[in-house]
Amino acid sequence: MGNGVVELVDVSAVYEGERTLALHNVSLSVERGEMVAIIGPNGAGKTTLLEVINGLLPITRGMVFVLGEHVTPRSHRLRQQIAYLPQDLFFPPSTPFLARDVVLMGRFAQIGPFRLPHREDRHAMEQALAAVGAATLAHRPIGRLSGGQQRKILLARVIARQPRVLLLDEPLTNLDPEAKEELSNLILRIHAQLELTTLFVSHDPGPLLNAADRTITVVTGRIITDLVAESQFIQVM
Ligand SMILES: Nc1ncnc2c1ncn2[C@@H]1O[C@H](COP(=O)(O)OP(=O)(O)OP(=O)(O)O)[C@@H](O)[C@H]1O
Ligand SMILES: [Mg+2]
Repeated sequence: MGNGVVELVDVSAVYEGERTLALHNVSLSVERGEMVAIIGPNGAGKTTLLEVINGLLPITRGMVFVLGEHVTPRSHRLRQQIAYLPQDLFFPPSTPFLARDVVLMGRFAQIGPFRLPHREDRHAMEQALAAVGAATLAHRPIGRLSGGQQRKILLARVIARQPRVLLLDEPLTNLDPEAKEELSNLILRIHAQLELTTLFVSHDPGPLLNAADRTITVVTGRIITDLVAESQFIQVM
């Protein structure tokens, strides 16, 4: 095992009831503070890769380590260090939570199951909402916000939670160009300020893809290229 924050060693995974592997012998090492873009065609295994890192999908071969700990579907404590924004996550209009509740839920790792939120938790929630420019949305039902606003709230939740690893699955889809740019810059700021190790799936050209230290291409469950960004390459030269 290497020293990466995220380490996959020869990992294969298959969904229940399926015959074909969704991931084939994938190895990957992501260093602390790196920002990695994952690209590839539909059905390639990009989401599967994030789910395996997060321990949501059991693997059939190999090993996954995050922050030096072995990841399994039972790694609940480790998962508190990982923030995951799933693909196509959208709260329907009837969702019975205010935006501020959703951010406060990000504090559950700190709050624990046996106490109510303290003043410091509410403070963290307010700070996080302000940091993403969504203080005025605090008392709106989450399901009545636009897709872009909902994603801002989910990013505020990441800030309130203070994870070590951030996994984002297509965080820019279905947003208008302005919102894409705003959310990209927000993600970059959170990555830098919280000193995160970030892996994201996105094909949208713009500041997020441009900022990636590396771009990994996944095709039919395999990593076929793993390229260091050109600007980094020039720095190395
Ligand atoms: N819940 C599931 N049950 C069975 N098979 C699945 C499931 N989710 C994904 N798969 C299969 O696993 C493979 C990889 O899917 P995955 O969702 O990781 O692709 P992706 O690269 O994220 O695609 P997209 O760009 O469409 O999001 C595909 O062949 C897909 O059909
Ligand atoms: Mg996907």
